[in-house]
Amino acid sequence: MNRVLVLTVTGLALALAGCSQLPGAKRVEYNTDLPMNELMGHVIDPAAWAYWRGSGTEITAEGERDLSPTTEEGWLVVENGAATLIEAGNLLQMPGRPRAPEADWNRYSKQLTERAMVARAAAERKDKQAVFDEGGRVYEVCQACHKQFIIDAQENAQGSPGKK
Ligand code: HEC
Repeated sequence: MNRVLVLTVTGLALALAGCSQLPGAKRVEYNTDLPMNELMGHVIDPAAWAYWRGSGTEITAEGERDLSPTTEEGWLVVENGAATLIEAGNLLQMPGRPRAPEADWNRYSKQLTERAMVARAAAERKDKQAVFDEGGRVYEVCQACHKQFIIDAQENAQGSPGKK
């Protein structure tokens, strides 16, 4: 009887020890030294432009030019851009990166990944119109996060009236 109890207690202690390693424990170490503006400027922005450049039209002296890729390599560049944005949503949520309010930050980050998934599928299908449309939807997420975390933050820092 006692023995069973001891075993049970030991088992429980082990289970708890296992659990207690979850939060805060050193499990995986990430290097998040790259500052946010550089993650944006060197990783996220180039990836987004690789995608955006692959659709729409450009007006030249010779007339309107379709910017959609014409080669397999060209389509791959567009798809690579979307794939990088899919992962960028994850990078933005790595421990230490999210800014307060974190729930909003993480929501935008997840939206970036979700929309980039759809954007990538459009590039895989070589669907020009969908690449254009989904590029716009990705842009909306960039804008929304910047609006809240840069513009609003700056206004608050300046103590602008009428803002909470
Ligand atoms: C989860 C929030 C979030 C999302 C999503 C986001 N950004 Fe940003 N971005 C920021 C913040 C915050 C800054 C300001 C960085 C700082 O404070 O140093 C920034 C800055 C930038 C900058 C300026 C970098 C510099 O050198 O100062 C560029 C360019 C940029 N973002 C591009 C993008 C693009 C393109 C997307 C979408 C594909 C995007 N961002 C999505 C939060 C976000």
